[in-house]
Amino acid sequence: MTDITHELTVLTRGEHHVLRAPHGVNLRRALLAAGFSPYAALTRRANCGGRGLCATCGVWIEAGEPAPAHWHDRIGARFGYPRLSCQVTVTAEMTVRLVDDKRIWGGPRADRRWTDAADHTPRALHP
Ligand code: FES
Repeated sequence: MTDITHELTVLTRGEHHVLRAPHGVNLRRALLAAGFSPYAALTRRANCGGRGLCATCGVWIEAGEPAPAHWHDRIGARFGYPRLSCQVTVTAEMTVRLVDDKRIWGGPRADRRWTDAADHTPRALHP
């Protein structure tokens, strides 16, 4: 682990909080360590523990969004679902919005769909 940290802004229910996250930290772990849950009440205990299987840890990444790398996260991003926080590594400044109205997964948003470019690199569509 390096001494490099990045600003991690967390938006939730009209509030915003600024944290420092170590370079390379898992986003889900950083959120939980700071007392922010990416989960809904139902899935706080019933989740896959960060293995990328349950899709219940989704958050909206408002700035600094990395391309999805995990197959499950790529599929979710392709259809506009929140990004799986357990599959995101913090390597730069990032702004994350917790999904306020989440029951289990959080619904998709058309403005958050990613598409495969000609070189098959995911690209965000933000109108
Ligand atoms: S915790 Fe299950 S997919 Fe992230």
